[in-house]
Amino acid sequence: MSAPNIETIVSLAKRRGFVFPSSEIYGGLGSAWDYGPLGVELCNNVKRAWWRWMVYERDDMEGLDSSIILNRSVWKHSGHEETFSDPLVDCRECNARLRADKLDYAGAAEGDDIAALIRDKQIKCPKCGAANLTEPRPFNLMFRTQLGAASTEDDPNALAYLRPETAQGIFINFHLVQQTMRRKVPFGIAQIGKSFRNEVTPGNFIFRTREFEQMEMEYFVRPGEDEAAHQEWIDNCFNWYASLGLSRDNLRLYEQPVEELAHYAKRTVDIHYRFFPERAEEEKHWDELMGIANRTDFDLRAHSKNPVDAEGKRINPDSTEDLSYFDEARKERYYPYVIEPAAGVNRSVLAFLMDAYTERTNDKGETRVILQLHPDLAPIKVAVLPLAKNKPEIVGMAKAVKRALQPVMRAVYDDTGGIGKLYARQDETGTPFCVTVDHQSLEDEAVTVRDRDTWEQERVKVADLQQHLQTRLLSK
Ligand code: GAP
Repeated sequence: MSAPNIETIVSLAKRRGFVFPSSEIYGGLGSAWDYGPLGVELCNNVKRAWWRWMVYERDDMEGLDSSIILNRSVWKHSGHEETFSDPLVDCRECNARLRADKLDYAGAAEGDDIAALIRDKQIKCPKCGAANLTEPRPFNLMFRTQLGAASTEDDPNALAYLRPETAQGIFINFHLVQQTMRRKVPFGIAQIGKSFRNEVTPGNFIFRTREFEQMEMEYFVRPGEDEAAHQEWIDNCFNWYASLGLSRDNLRLYEQPVEELAHYAKRTVDIHYRFFPERAEEEKHWDELMGIANRTDFDLRAHSKNPVDAEGKRINPDSTEDLSYFDEARKERYYPYVIEPAAGVNRSVLAFLMDAYTERTNDKGETRVILQLHPDLAPIKVAVLPLAKNKPEIVGMAKAVKRALQPVMRAVYDDTGGIGKLYARQDETGTPFCVTVDHQSLEDEAVTVRDRDTWEQERVKVADLQQHLQTRLLSK
């Protein structure tokens, strides 16, 4: 089972301290969300799992943490200043501002010109239903800011952007990483960090926001070896999500048609997740979880000082470096091709929450929610619960058990309810194990370990508890 819709997760996320609407005491901020005590743990666990898989478990990977604000020339030569935009239309009746590519063009064929469709087919505003939309125009998604004490608001010398992707920080550091770490192509550079896009229509909870986090990796290969590497990364990424518990029935690969490709891409395959299972039409269940692009040598060339145009003029007069690579073994120089798996932390968190959502009925006929998160992702690994909170010996022992576990796994102590309620709370937050200290524990130095998924209980000696839990967390 998985969540029937995103709304179910919005409510669970707020109730259990995963995600809160941002600035709520001032009426909120539309698309902004704050990650609460369990949300920050879940995000960190997703990032840690990705970094371990992407960087530590491979021989051909380095990490990087580049700046959010880069020299404006980066965005000029990457093509973002000119092309990183969405087509925007206004509704002349209700003044709604809408993404032209997301309107309902029922009956239109793929590749049809949307400006012509809006003009000729009386496309309706989804907010008020009127067929009175303006011509689409490009709206650049990059957030603008000024560096330092600029003289005027639009001083072009002070203009800077918050990065809309982490990738460019990797391209401009390609040589420094390759040389300092003595790397030979093929190798990759991974980065996790915040990105910002002034989305026209943010929404669907943490699915599309203006501030979000990305996990990106640029894999540099010899031209000609790009297509096989691309396919390998598509398969790797799909399997990574499945290995962390996403059901394969809720994942699919989507080949971007040529007209959808970004300006830098030769081929892009997205991994889609079934974010909208409640929609009547199966095709509308799906949306992008991550993209895996073949960016060719576009970026390294674009940031290099050497390439010239037909008249012999430097294409990039601002760069001071040539980012080509000399292959010692083959005695050849080339601009490496780049395969880019690019995932969103927040969309991944949403998919993991939706997929983990399960309902189960207990002996009394009550329906309980269980969040069957993969143990590596679960915010809390074990909750230690005293059976009687008015018995100082039991409370003391439970707190001591929790303190002994906390250096090796995230452990919490809770005595704010009856045992049934405490179990239900931990099930709903995805805690794989609860440990209960009872009267008998004072006698036999043993505790009850309860499994989140089966509700089965077993007695374990306190002396063996840490090892027992670590083994079971690994085998779950
Ligand atoms: N460097 C390539 C790149 O940025 P992208 O497909 O635009 O590619 C990669 O973004 C991933 O980042 C997406 O698949 C999605 O998971 C996440 N993402 C993009 N825009 C987002 C937004 N507004 N809110 C949340 N996540 C977003």
